[in-house]
Amino acid sequence: MSQKQKTVKKATKSAGREEELLKLEAKYCSWGDTVHYADKLNIFDRAEGIYLYDREGAEYLDLQMWYSAVNFGYKNRRLNEALKRQIDKMPQLACQYLHEEKILLATKIGQRVEMTFEAQGRVHFNVGGAQAVEDSLKVVRNHTHKNLVFAFMGGYHGRTLGASAITSSYRYREKFGHFSDRALFVPYPYCFRCMYEKKREFCDLYCLRQFEKLFETEYHAILNKKNNECEFGAFYVESVQGTGGYVIPPAEYFSRLKEILDRYKILLIDDEIQMGFYRTGKLWGIEHFNVVPDVIVFGKALTNGLNPISGIWAKEKLISPQVFPPGSTHSTFSANPLGTAIGLETMKLIEDSDFAVSVPRKGEYFLAQLRKLRKKYPQIGDVDGLGLALRIEICQKDGFTPNKELTDAIANIGLGANLNVGGKKRGLILDVGGYYKNVFTLAPSLSIEEEEIDLAVELFEEALKKGIAQTA
Ligand SMILES: Cc1ncc(COP(=O)(O)O)c(C=O)c1O
Repeated sequence: MSQKQKTVKKATKSAGREEELLKLEAKYCSWGDTVHYADKLNIFDRAEGIYLYDREGAEYLDLQMWYSAVNFGYKNRRLNEALKRQIDKMPQLACQYLHEEKILLATKIGQRVEMTFEAQGRVHFNVGGAQAVEDSLKVVRNHTHKNLVFAFMGGYHGRTLGASAITSSYRYREKFGHFSDRALFVPYPYCFRCMYEKKREFCDLYCLRQFEKLFETEYHAILNKKNNECEFGAFYVESVQGTGGYVIPPAEYFSRLKEILDRYKILLIDDEIQMGFYRTGKLWGIEHFNVVPDVIVFGKALTNGLNPISGIWAKEKLISPQVFPPGSTHSTFSANPLGTAIGLETMKLIEDSDFAVSVPRKGEYFLAQLRKLRKKYPQIGDVDGLGLALRIEICQKDGFTPNKELTDAIANIGLGANLNVGGKKRGLILDVGGYYKNVFTLAPSLSIEEEEIDLAVELFEEALKKGIAQTA
């Protein structure tokens, strides 16, 4: 058999196997997760650096990196080694017992927050992001004795019941009964599509003024003017909205919001699950905005997508042993030794790296390329970025009306692995977010190099051109 015949035979066998696997998936896997959002289902086989590979060996440049969980690249050697070392040392331990890595990781995070915000606090670990959000809700309720919180329109905090109650999309709650303590959702400063149709240059944060008005009289339904008690205990924010479409607020927004919250003893809870660990060029995205949060919630990139752990940091007055005693919250796998060992190595890797400099530099470079594309294609309504959290908003030719059809077409073309840059067929992994599902939220690996950014932009332009032709 010739080499060509052998290759064809191998590809046919592989295609047959893929078909078989997809049939099994269709029958035995729940469709309740997000896999079936896509028209074309890919089965991936390998990952390395900024690339994913499918079973045929096709290479996909990943601009999503597991929704910003893999900030430090696939198969990061240093983090993988930390995992392997821990597997050989002590892979399992019930979380009621102590191990060194847990203590050191909590210490590193606590000391880092202390240094940045001059605030004392403690860390409590859990497993997934939404679970950490649940823990933060307990901390809020315990401290304020209030069930109600504010959150933002466009905000996303996870899909457990408590996290769904403070996540803006009704779609995520609709089938699951009445959410009596659902958040009061406030318009986010999404200036490209201002809820109040204002222009940023002249608005003086009109949206914030509207929020402030809620406190003017008891008849606006949230405040007892006689004792200054607000019915709401906390405000949940993302420093940059993630699933909402990487929407970056005006520089002074959060500090002015915090002034209002402080007047009524409302806690500021900062969900850094997606923006944390240098996605924006700082450890926590909120560091760009000159405010001190009362609680920070983190997850995702702490373990680079390896054995997950999440957690909260809370100010001492909210989480001291006197107010949050043993047993206040618990999960079997929280603070698991594999996760804490990787998390500790992640914190050391951060200390040894120059992300505070390199991420903003790379982000500016990437954004400059995207701005050039925007000039060429009216369908790109907006591009923006903070560090390596970048957004491309896809519109109709008027540059404003959301164009979900084109967005989906581009994402599917990327998954088709048929883009041809430099004579090699490649794919492109893109995440779709935004209020109108027309935004590409780019979260490349923090170690992406300039040539790889150029390649990513070339691949994106080709997918865009094909998408425009397909949907014309
Ligand atoms: C800001 C934010 N909060 C919470 C979550 C929920 O985290 P998890 O999916 O790990 O439960 C996410 C996940 O995307 C997120 O982006």
